[in-house]
Amino acid sequence: MSKWLVLVLLFAQYCEVRSYKPVVIIHGILDTAESLNDLKSMIEKAHPGTNVTVIKLYPEIQSLSTPMWVQVNGVSKVLKEIMAKSKDGVHLIGFSQVPSLLAKFLPSVTKEYLYLFLYKKGFQDHLTIANYWNDPKHTKEYLAGNIFLPLVNNNNNSKFADKQKYRLQKENFSKLKNITVISGPQDGVIIPWQSALFGFYDASLNIVPMEKQKAYTEDWFGLGTLAKRKAIHTFMFENITHTSWHGSEVVFNKAIKQWLT
Ligand SMILES: *[C@@H]1O[C@H](CO)[C@@H](O)[C@H](O)[C@H]1NC(C)=O
Ligand SMILES: *[C@@H]1O[C@H](CO)[C@@H](O)[C@H](O)[C@H]1NC(C)=O
Ligand SMILES: *[C@@H]1O[C@H](CO)[C@@H](O)[C@H](O)[C@H]1NC(C)=O
Ligand SMILES: *[C@@H]1O[C@H](CO)[C@@H](O)[C@H](O)[C@H]1NC(C)=O
Ligand SMILES: *[C@@H]1O[C@H](CO)[C@@H](O)[C@H](O)[C@H]1NC(C)=O
Repeated sequence: MSKWLVLVLLFAQYCEVRSYKPVVIIHGILDTAESLNDLKSMIEKAHPGTNVTVIKLYPEIQSLSTPMWVQVNGVSKVLKEIMAKSKDGVHLIGFSQVPSLLAKFLPSVTKEYLYLFLYKKGFQDHLTIANYWNDPKHTKEYLAGNIFLPLVNNNNNSKFADKQKYRLQKENFSKLKNITVISGPQDGVIIPWQSALFGFYDASLNIVPMEKQKAYTEDWFGLGTLAKRKAIHTFMFENITHTSWHGSEVVFNKAIKQWLT
């Protein structure tokens, strides 16, 4: 009799473990995997049995000094191994890859001139934030010097445009089932905060929303494709500062939990 009870219990546990897809979390610049334990706990509490992995690569200062392509390749490798074990797919949660961390620490006068330096090869090869730098007043220099951001956006005007890579990137991005983006005006670090929702400045520093971005209307990397499938989900929260996103129960309950099926 007790033998059967044990079997039934094991089966129940098995069902529970199988019922949610694994979740993989990637921390942001200058952050560590440990700091994301708050989110990990919220997921495990809401959906018991979920296998949550926080990728422990490039913590703190390493995230600043390791070039973005190296980080992308490093994270991809770990992600591929996890995905190979999860045939039904995984949920990926990524945090702030801070487009303009420098802006927080530097006076605006300095910021005005950063385009003169940050697009130079030395900075591009050794400083993450240079890879993210996009000064809306100096697009020409950005397209000629930045070796990362225009390339992940599949920007054909980049000096380093790689048609073959672009085709694969678009194919791959278009395979995402859903993408949910979350940001808000009090973030305080991401500038502009709308860039986390695929918006950006025009040359006069007015915000142009995602729907009016060329990357979207011309479907550079698959954003338009996803939008047609209604697969882009946008959330805006007030009063959440940059380091509070992953610990916020309000954000988790309204914008994250529902997707972790
Ligand atoms: C959770 O996922 C990781 C990464 O795929 C894997 O190494 C680990 O064995 C999994 N744990 C369980 C309990 O399935
Ligand atoms: C970028 O170039 C590729 C290859 O020539 C082309 O297929 C694609 O349509 C171009 N994209 C845009 C937005 O012009
Ligand atoms: C596209 O996805 C395939 C399969 O996961 C992967 O091997 C390849 O590296 C990806 N290519 C790009 C450019 O992202
Ligand atoms: C994608 O989002 C839609 C709701 O817009 C939902 O019905 C669907 O189940 C989601 N797909 C996955 C794989 O989560
Ligand atoms: C945000 O904070 C301000 C000032 O404390 C408050 O007036 C406002 O109601 C808050 N908004 C939300 C959505 O909580």
